[in-house]
Amino acid sequence: MKDSIGRTINYLRISVTDLCNFRCVYCMPAEGVKPREHSEMMRFEEIVQVVRVAAENGISKIRLTGGEPLVRHGIVDLVRMIRQVSGINEITITTNGLLLAKYAEALKDAGLTRVNVSLDTLKPDLFKKITRYGELATVWQGIEAAEKHGLLPLKLNMVMVAGINDNEIPDFMNLTMQNAWHVRFIELMPIQNQVSWGDGFPDPSECYISTGAVLERYQHMNLKPVYQPEQLGPAKLYQLPGARGFVGFISPLDDDHFCSRCNRLRLTADGNLRPCLMSDFEVPLLNAIRSGEDISVLIEKVIKQKPVRHELILNHTPENRNMMQIGG
Ligand code: 5AD
Ligand code: SF4
Repeated sequence: MKDSIGRTINYLRISVTDLCNFRCVYCMPAEGVKPREHSEMMRFEEIVQVVRVAAENGISKIRLTGGEPLVRHGIVDLVRMIRQVSGINEITITTNGLLLAKYAEALKDAGLTRVNVSLDTLKPDLFKKITRYGELATVWQGIEAAEKHGLLPLKLNMVMVAGINDNEIPDFMNLTMQNAWHVRFIELMPIQNQVSWGDGFPDPSECYISTGAVLERYQHMNLKPVYQPEQLGPAKLYQLPGARGFVGFISPLDDDHFCSRCNRLRLTADGNLRPCLMSDFEVPLLNAIRSGEDISVLIEKVIKQKPVRHELILNHTPENRNMMQIGG
């Protein structure tokens, strides 16, 4: 289905939980978030019902997010259930990787297409500092398991934080020399994270670094733009000479055309459908489902109301939810 400015909407991101087994400094407060009542959460049958109606309205790709999606009990079953919906030809997960070694094989068997793993540093000490809980070695085992079980191409997502991990950008790029991975650099977005991140971190307002600045700083690495006649997804792709994999930049702030390519909707864990990560507008689907209403018209309404572009640039940020409630 097309929205009001002709963007084809074919991609639905589903947050299956607000909870996470990490507490990344730019994403969650140290004490975590209060778990929701069970009754407020979408049950699997309800999620699948949304997927079914969304597929009838042109959605063909599903991504499961969180919080951390792998902490949701029965996640493998959910993948299997979604896989069976006609019209869905791709189902992926964005995970922090901590439980990936445990689940990679079962996820593949259940029909998962591939995974994106969030990884902001290759240094174990810094990893613990950023995630407040994480063990880099365990995540790395998860990455290897995903590779072994064919959840490909593997994509690594690194949020660029100036003064913290930006000096590792070349090391991350170099991972693509030997591995046919997509290593993607994401601009830090100021979504409910403009409070102190604790000892050893700069002021959050100083942590943003633009894609443009990074490309300029690392010119000597000779990244070559990849010809993308129709850019699929938000990343602009590059390659290092002789590399097996790709380097991508995701630039919600630095790229003026970011929103014009956006093809997605987002479903929160408590059943609200949002047309944009960065605006507060959302439509409650869960009650509608529970009272047997036709949600097709609601989905259509959300698509029609998708903002032309986000207003982060004007310092307007979403106020009703934070990142782990929307799913990145
Ligand atoms: N800006 C950019 N990316 C973020 N993520 C979480 N918070 C932010 C933010 N403020 C990323 C995570 C993960 C994805 C789900 O969203 O690192 O890769
Ligand atoms: Fe968890 Fe991802 Fe947020 Fe880190 S960024 S706390 S891994 S949801």
